[in-house]
Amino acid sequence: MDKIIIKGGNTLRGEVEISAAKNAVLPILAATLLSEDKCTIENCPMLLDVFVICDLIKSLGAKVKIDEESGLTEIEALNIKDCEQIGDLSRKMRASFLIMGPMVSRFGKFKISLPGGCNIGTRPIDLHLKGFKALGASVILDHGNVEISANKLIGNRIYLDFPSVGATENIMMAGTLAEGETIIENAAAEPEIGDLANFLTKMGACIEGVGTGTIKIKGVKKLIGADYKPIYDRIEAGTFMIAAGLTNSNIKLKGVNEDHIKPIIAKLTEMGMDIEMDNDILIIDGRKELKPIDIKTMPYPGFPTDMQAQMMSLLSCVVGTSVVTETIYENRFMHVAELKRMGANVKIDGRSAVIEGITRLNGAAVKATDLRAGASLILAGLEAEGETEITDVYHIDRGYVEIEKKFKMLGANIRRIKE
Ligand code: EPU
Repeated sequence: MDKIIIKGGNTLRGEVEISAAKNAVLPILAATLLSEDKCTIENCPMLLDVFVICDLIKSLGAKVKIDEESGLTEIEALNIKDCEQIGDLSRKMRASFLIMGPMVSRFGKFKISLPGGCNIGTRPIDLHLKGFKALGASVILDHGNVEISANKLIGNRIYLDFPSVGATENIMMAGTLAEGETIIENAAAEPEIGDLANFLTKMGACIEGVGTGTIKIKGVKKLIGADYKPIYDRIEAGTFMIAAGLTNSNIKLKGVNEDHIKPIIAKLTEMGMDIEMDNDILIIDGRKELKPIDIKTMPYPGFPTDMQAQMMSLLSCVVGTSVVTETIYENRFMHVAELKRMGANVKIDGRSAVIEGITRLNGAAVKATDLRAGASLILAGLEAEGETEITDVYHIDRGYVEIEKKFKMLGANIRRIKE
């Protein structure tokens, strides 16, 4: 397993291009299964999770062609076969369950391994299942598998008890080919859902109300192939913004949609960072002294849970008391133990973490326990005095394209050791 080694303390400068959003691309790739025509997705980020979902789609019998240089990914799901062998692949990644909506909608039946919990929480799928049942499907849970079947999905009104991103996406995709109108209430409003809706609309779907909390989908008979370029990754952008604060640097990010990162801009500005947009370039100046703040993760447009760990690294180095409250996941503080190895002063009290910021972290041997926790350790390493060695880097590779190369281009002393 690869390691990342960082010698902290370098100031960053220059410009880096943000990749396409993993969490937009995964549902979009799943949605290509809704049509028998070829779909072309431009600029796909070449990430572990993207390869897993492409392998899954391929194992169903679809033709998948990836140009790793440009990220151009073509999928033609004309002939799909019944597939009993996808268990291992689907267990590798929770987002695999996003193929359920398209498969049931197009073929009336699909069986897959139940997605398990993961390091950050139990992550049930009850809201996805509530949606499929409301559309008239029957759900069988058996020996770790979930089988969903329906002669015909019929549109219905579905209230989500929580605005789940994945449930909104799965039900939206299922509704595209259902008979009549599907209405999702208390739907999630994350930008990635808007991106999926735009792609589905290009395929011929009829969707209204994305971003309002109530999404209406009028079922159509057939979806056609489409070409699409997904949105940029707001979490990758936020991760680089925090790096500017941690290294007292001024950096530029290319390919950022300012609207999507408003909650991140708001909190970093509150801390004292100067952030401005110049055409499509975001300029972040983290050279001023920063103030401690309190943060609570919330569904969009609240502060994203996927930025919580990275924010914790920054607050660990801002003198004063900050409180971070995690409301989305029950176990997303795994990075705290690792940050403590680097000298951070953090106490966890239930769903909150109280951080007494110090002037500088110390490099240490630490372990990435999940994707965003891993990113937070890279950020901490960029600030820390001495050397930081991060193991279990594969977690980071699930969601960041060549992160060490991008930081190196900005002037960081960072390298990967392949093992
Ligand atoms: N939940 C339920 N029941 C459900 C579905 C969700 O209780 O049926 C709970 C989950 O257990 C969790 C909360 O609701 O506590 C939020 O889950 P949600 O369904 O919104 O998240 P997701 O679709 O599984 C996506 C991202 C995550 C991101 C969350 C929240 C993808 C592929 N993943 O997951 O991304 O944290 O939304 O914004 O889009 C990451 O990129 O690091 C990551 C974990």
